[in-house]
Amino acid sequence: MVDILTYYNQHPINESTINDALLRAGSSLENLAPEDLFAHDQDHYGGLEAVDALAKSAAIDASDRVLDVCSGMGGPARYLASRYGCRVMGLDLNRSRALSAARFTALVGLDGKVSFVCGDATSMPFENQSFTRVISQEAFLHIGDKEALFENCQRVLAPGGRLTFTDWVASPRLTESERSILGKGMAAAAIHQKDEYVSYLSAADLAGVEVEDLSVWWRDILRKRLEMYREKSQDSERLFGAARYREFMDAYEIFVSVIEEGKLGGARFTAFRLAQC
Ligand SMILES: C[S@@+](CC[C@H](N)C(=O)[O-])C[C@H]1O[C@@H](n2cnc3c(N)ncnc32)[C@H](O)[C@@H]1O
Repeated sequence: MVDILTYYNQHPINESTINDALLRAGSSLENLAPEDLFAHDQDHYGGLEAVDALAKSAAIDASDRVLDVCSGMGGPARYLASRYGCRVMGLDLNRSRALSAARFTALVGLDGKVSFVCGDATSMPFENQSFTRVISQEAFLHIGDKEALFENCQRVLAPGGRLTFTDWVASPRLTESERSILGKGMAAAAIHQKDEYVSYLSAADLAGVEVEDLSVWWRDILRKRLEMYREKSQDSERLFGAARYREFMDAYEIFVSVIEEGKLGGARFTAFRLAQC
């Protein structure tokens, strides 16, 4: 089973491949604007359109202090700060990703508004009530302990603050053997059905839960994403070896096939921390 740190340390989307793509596109890696990175630094499904939809559900504006849980290389954090004017803190377990995120952010001059911390979403290194919004995209599938995750999300939210996240959701037809393949190949520690997520949110005292199904939208996006990873074969093989790239693709092909079959999909969840609790 691939562990979560190895999975992202050997992921086809990384600082080196992003820099190579920028150089190939004729950028100098100096004097970059946030927009120069947007085609490369979003490691979730649906790119900027998905971040805008998330920002709308979260009702993010310039007055917000946003926490992006599992922030990866910081693409969504930088987009939110530059498009909506809010301050954003990113939290990621992977030190190398958090450092890449900080370097890209300094490169595009957003380090006054966006910062990153390396840490675990199940024991967040933040004071109670530090944020008005908590967001995440395509990452909670990696976290086994959902009680601790949502307890932390609730704890760091200010009263009245909002948690909005997108993630994989299973249909009852997803088999144990498919779960096991996704666990071993994509570090998917715990894949939930929609109503299980709703129960976790309620148990963490997060109220007014709303759920929007994204499964049909994701099908086309994920077909294209599989193609994008095929196109990255040379870069990935050079960095991590042909065997690792094949392992990554074997798992990703099965992932896209269960998405196509409707056994796995996606959803966006929103919930509030009550103003008085
Ligand atoms: C698919 S990437 C998503 C990155 C980012 N949300 C984006 O949309 O570009 C998932 C990220 O979750 C992080 N992650 C996984 N488990 C975590 C945990 N327990 N605490 C914090 N980060 C975690 C991984 O290191 C990885 O960077």
